[in-house]
Parts: sequence; structure tokens; C-alpha cells
Amino acid sequence: MPDTAQMPFNTTRVRTLTDLRSAVAALRDGGRTVGFVPTMGALHDGHIALVRHAKSLCDTVVVSIFVNPLQFAPTEDLDRYPRDEAGDVARLQAVGCDLVYLPTPDVLYPKGFVSRIEMTGPALGLETDFRPQFFSGVATVVSKLFNQVRPGVAVFGEKDFQQLAVVRAMVRDFDMGIDIVGMPTVREPDGLALSSRNAYLSAEERAIAPNLHTALEAIRDGKTTIDEAKAGLVAAGFGQIDYIALRDADTLGEVTGDTRARRLLAALWLGKTRLIDNIAA
Ligand code: PAF
Repeated sequence: MPDTAQMPFNTTRVRTLTDLRSAVAALRDGGRTVGFVPTMGALHDGHIALVRHAKSLCDTVVVSIFVNPLQFAPTEDLDRYPRDEAGDVARLQAVGCDLVYLPTPDVLYPKGFVSRIEMTGPALGLETDFRPQFFSGVATVVSKLFNQVRPGVAVFGEKDFQQLAVVRAMVRDFDMGIDIVGMPTVREPDGLALSSRNAYLSAEERAIAPNLHTALEAIRDGKTTIDEAKAGLVAAGFGQIDYIALRDADTLGEVTGDTRARRLLAALWLGKTRLIDNIAA
């Protein structure tokens, strides 16, 4: 049964598909519109901005919290990914989220689950060169969540810019009829993009981390080349640079004469933490 245990703002928590379906049906009652924000929890102000925006666009908002094993390689941080269900639910209550969906892996991937969505187009290169499992895992879970919640609008952060492009392509190609809305990255005052993985950074690494955004701005402004910026980041204390690349913002392919907007995207390591960021360029 849904747990409505006297939570302020009438936020309902559900964990099963049956409960989700009846709770969403109740939200939809009378023709109310449903906005959706899928997350992996460890919510920060960037997530809350997505929820607020979904609320401004729709009558009701559903947020899912699910650390999706399909998008992690066996060597990655699935087991240590930050989890804070109580804190997350409290933040969602405070922002007036109507429904929190907290499925367990067996709810999303019951015994015998064998399907995967494989994306090409904007999924090619960049993240895929370093995390080949990632977009198949994201597309598979997001399509499942979309089918379960059936929102009219779903809001994603531009911090995961390639993910946003992949989700847009999937929704278009599979005629899902969901309006995908991207929201600008929320940053710390020193420029560091908010990320649940920032919690992994030591104090020393946290002081180094804003150099990434500064370097992207310097490249954008023509003050440095990508190669010079990479050298500067290594000198500042970053480890392996997976990529810093200027791409067509629509296709995420190479910039061509037809490019209407450009995006500068980066992924690199700081100690044991992989950071990603991107800006318009
Ligand atoms: O961006 C995320 O948090 C995840 O990739 C998403 C979209 C919730 C899918 O697991």
C-alpha cells in the first residue's frame, strides 16, 4: 500500500508498480497533467530545480529514485553510489512533490527481464567511448519508467547533456509523445556543477574541481586551446582526461557547416571521482 503516513504536502511514497499505477491514476483524476523527474537520489539543488520546473509546467509531479544497475559497469561505483532515502524524501516533500516512486531492482527488472534499448546517433562517442554500457542502461530504465508513469512532460538536467540528447532521440524515435525539457546546470558559487558524485571529493579535490568549469570557459572564450587547457588541468591536479570536445549541440557529432549551436563537453578524473561538465560554446 502507498505510505502516506502524515507526510506534509501530501507526498505519497510508492515502491511497487501496482501502487505506482493507482497513485498516478489518482493524480491524473479530473484531467490533471503529470510531470516526471527521474533521478538516482542523493538529491541536490540541481535536482530540486528540475522538480520545481516540472511543477511550474504541470499540475502534479512524480519523482523516481532508483540507482539503476544497468548503467554501471562492474568496475564502477554502483555499490558506493550515495544513497539517502529519508533526506531525499524530506527534500521532495519540502518542494511539494506529489509522488515519490522508490522501486527496488526486482520491480524494474523482474526475473526473466531480457530486453535492452541500444542507442546510436547522439549516444556515439564521448561517454560511450569510456562507459559503453551507459546509454543502453539509461535508455532502458528511462523507457521503462516512462511506460510506468506515463507523464506528459519529463525534465532532465543539461549537466548530463549527452544523456539529454539520447533521451530526446529515444522519445522521438519511439513516438513516446512525452515533452522532454532540459534545464541549465546548477553550479556552486565557484562554478563547480552540482553532482551527487561531488560527495566523493576530498577537501583538497573539492578545491581543485572548479578549475574544470574555468577551463571550459577559457576554451569557449578563445583564451586557450583544448590541448593547453588539458595540460593546465593536469598541472592543477586532475588525473586522466577522458575527453574535452567541441561538438554540434544538436547531433553531438562533429561541428560542421550546418551546425547551429556548439557544445563543449568534458569528462575527467579527480582522484577516484569522475567529473563531467559542459557549456554552450
Ligand atoms: O541522470 C540520472 O540520474 C540517471 O541517469 C537517470 C536519468 C535517472 C537514469 O537512471
